[in-house]
Order: sequence, then C-alpha cells, then structure tokens
Amino acid sequence: MSQTDIVILAAGKGTRMRSAQPKVLHELAGVSLLQHVLVAAETVVHSQKIVVTGHGAEMVKRSLPSKAAIFVQQTEQMGTAHAVKMALPHLRDDAKVLILYGDVPLIKPVTIGKMLATVTTESIALLTVTLADPNGYGRIVRGTDGLIEAIIEQRDASSEQLELREVNTGVLALTVSQLKVWLPLIDNNNTQGEYYLTDLIALARRDGFRVDSIQPTSSTEVEGVNNRLQLSRLERAHQIELAEALMLSGTSLADPTRFDQRGTLTAGTDNHIDINCIFEGTVTLGSDVTIGANCQIINSRIGDGVEIKANSHIEESLIGDRAVIGPYARLRTGTELGVDAKIGNFVETKKTKVGAGSKINHLSYVGDTEMGAKVNIGAGTITCNYDGVNKHRTVLGNDVFVGSNSTLIAPIKIGDHGFVGAGSTVSQDVSASALAVGRSKQRNIQGWKRPTKNNRDS
Ligand code: UD1
Ligand code: CA
Repeated sequence: MSQTDIVILAAGKGTRMRSAQPKVLHELAGVSLLQHVLVAAETVVHSQKIVVTGHGAEMVKRSLPSKAAIFVQQTEQMGTAHAVKMALPHLRDDAKVLILYGDVPLIKPVTIGKMLATVTTESIALLTVTLADPNGYGRIVRGTDGLIEAIIEQRDASSEQLELREVNTGVLALTVSQLKVWLPLIDNNNTQGEYYLTDLIALARRDGFRVDSIQPTSSTEVEGVNNRLQLSRLERAHQIELAEALMLSGTSLADPTRFDQRGTLTAGTDNHIDINCIFEGTVTLGSDVTIGANCQIINSRIGDGVEIKANSHIEESLIGDRAVIGPYARLRTGTELGVDAKIGNFVETKKTKVGAGSKINHLSYVGDTEMGAKVNIGAGTITCNYDGVNKHRTVLGNDVFVGSNSTLIAPIKIGDHGFVGAGSTVSQDVSASALAVGRSKQRNIQGWKRPTKNNRDS
C-alpha cells in the first residue's frame, strides 16, 4: 500500500477569529495556515490531497493554485466525521488515508511520515500529545494494558476523564478500506449532535484493531488556531524555531525573539543579523554578511561579506560580494550590485546595474540604469527615466563621475571616464572622457544692495 490520500479539514468558519476571511486563510510566517498544511503534505510520495471546504469555500479555493488539491464542499458543518465523508468519493481503495486540519499549520513532515509508517491493515495511527493544560481537547482513554480504548470529547467526559492529560490532536491515519467500514457507523449521539471522527477509535477497538499512538516532536506541531491571540503565539513559536535553526547553522542573531522569516532563508556562516529584520520569499545570504537593525529583504541574493546597514529595504535584487548598503537605502526590483559597490543613505534604485566598486552614496534616485565599474554618482543625482509615458534607460561607462545634484535625462549615455559637472542637467550623450556642464553660468553683481524693510505696513 504505497499510495496515500490526505484529507485536510478546512470547512469551519473560525468564528473566534472575528474576521471576514475564512480562518484557514489567515497567515502564519507570511503564508496561509492551509498552505502550511499543504506544503507538509506535499512531502508524502504518491499522495493526493483533498481539501474539505465549507465557510468561504470559494475564497479558500481561489487562494491556491487549482492543482494544489482536490476541493470538496461540506455545505453544512455536521462534525469532523461528516467532513471526512465528503472526501470519500475521491479516496482510493488501496490507499492509506491521513486526516489533517487546515487550522493546525505546523505539523511536520517527519511526524506525518511516522504516522503513515505505523498504519497497517490491523492498526490505525493516532497522533496524541500530553499537555499541562488539556482543556478543550478530547481525552485519550487507555485500558489497563496501556492500549488506547477511546477518545472522549471534553463535553462528554466524566470528571475522572477530565483529569487525563494525554489528548487527541485530531490527526489520524488508517487504511481507506477500514475508513469506509467505520465511517457509516458513526452516529451523532453526543452533546453537540455532531458526527465525531474520534468515535472511529472505539469502533476500531471493537473490531479488534490496535490503535498506536505517535507523539509530535513538540506541541506547536499540533496546536490549532482558534483566535488571533493563538495565531500570534504560534507565529512566535514558529519564528523561534526558524531563528534557532539559523543560529545553529552558523548565523548570529542579536535577538532570536526579534527575527522574522516569511519564506525560505538560506545562509552561509558567520553572518550577523541585528534586531527586527524581516526576510520574505526566497532569500539567500552568503557568508560574513552583516545586517543592521530593521532591514527588510525580499526575494534577493546577498553575496559574501556584504554589509547592510540599518533600516534598509531590498527587494528582488542581487548583491555582489562585499557591497555596502545603507543605512536607509531602498533597493527595488531589478537592482544588481557588483562586487564592492556602495549604496548610501536615502538612495533608491530600480532596474539598475551598478558595476564593481561603483558608488551612489547619498540622496539619489537611479532607475533603469546600467553603469560600469568605479562610477561615482554624486549626492542628489536623479535619473529622469520617465517622460510621463515611457521609461528610458541611462547607460554610464566605466569610471564615470557624476557631480552632485545632477539630473540625467534619459535616454542618455555617458562614455567611459565621462565627467558631469555638479548641478548639471544632462540631456545629450557625453562621449568618453568628455566633461559635460549643463548649468547656467554664475553672474556676480558688484555693489549690490540688499532690500530694506518697508516700515509702513508694520
Ligand atoms: C477536535 C477533536 C478533539 C481534538 C481537537 C484537537 C473531534 C470530534 N474532536 O475537536 O478530539 O482534541 O479537535 O484540536 O474530532 N471541521 C470541518 N467540518 C465540520 C467540523 C469541523 O471541516 O463539520 C473542521 C474544523 O474547521 C476544524 C477541525 O475540523 O479545522 C476540527 O473541528 P473542531 O470543531 O474545531 O473540533 P474540536 O472541537 O476542536
Ligand atoms: Ca478546534
């Protein structure tokens, strides 16, 4: 039995989120809760995923690529067993089935693997966890032989059973053929009048099946999200795990409680990251990278020995080795910095290649530009790349010097070693090694008298 059908329950409204959005679409680490579960499920070979939607079904469906899963709808939420029933037509007879929850986002592939390895034709696998505070969970009832006998929902539990601290996580795995035997036998004869999937355990025991329990590596794996408070706690627990993994792989964090990774972060060694940095999408750091406080780095690759100073924002950019950026720099989509390049404070770049050792150190906007090596762009330089309708390119050769407060009106080219005098407005190409001065001549008026104050009006 090498096939697995993974059913993800996501029909609940999540009333306690107090949100117009279905609960499973709320995000953790920048990705929807449901997407987290799908990513974990993705690690199972020969599997198909079936998502049971209900509240906000269309929104949930639209949030994912159409091939991400099979979607089935549970129009009325009549309980977890009823929800699984909706998926039955898609389950394959010779497969195992694993039940996951759209609002339990941090389940780990290793745990899923253990669950599936435990299932046999004579046994089912149940994920249980022992909690200091088992309130709200179904309790695991074991017989004198230590084997699991049943799950009793909190509402239906006796005061003695309420003392039990081993609880049901809801995650279980069994063969599709057995699920098909037991599911129709589950009734709604309980305080909520719901069809409880958990009743499957007692049915399995009745038929002489063994119920084997698996424990997660940590309780965050099985924690569900019911309100925004729980979501924020889970977010932090997840971030701490990511921060710890990063530190153990050779990157120092000033404070792991003030670190946010929303996507994939790959890093070399001997990197130092100060507080409040956010990494989004796919980010790669080389080694010996220093990142100051409050930086946001999105879908970018940062080379070795790069220094990113505080409060810099870098998006969809490639940063060459030993480049120095910030503080307060904004590198927008399509910025490529060569080795040893420097971008200083209050500089914005977009779709711009900065050659090796080139510098834009202060207060500039440089967009749609290609520049060679060892170029120096003076403070306050602006590339006028937009004529109100179209974008145009600025091309600077090697060793070009642009004086402060210059305006380069694109399309424009400046050849190697070209020089622009400070305060110039440059609208014509400058040939190699030429000096361009595009400003009005200074006049000095001798003996000029300052205006005097007019007393009549005061
Ligand atoms: C369930 C378990 C309980 C366990 C707890 C762990 C049952 C009967 N109880 O209780 O033993 O300790 O999870 O968190 O299974 N859902 C649907 N359709 C429905 C009902 C629920 O899709 O008709 C989905 C919900 O959206 C949710 C999940 O199933 O994601 C669990 O349902 P919920 O009502 O929260 O069950 P609990 O009472 O928490
Ligand atoms: Ca719940």
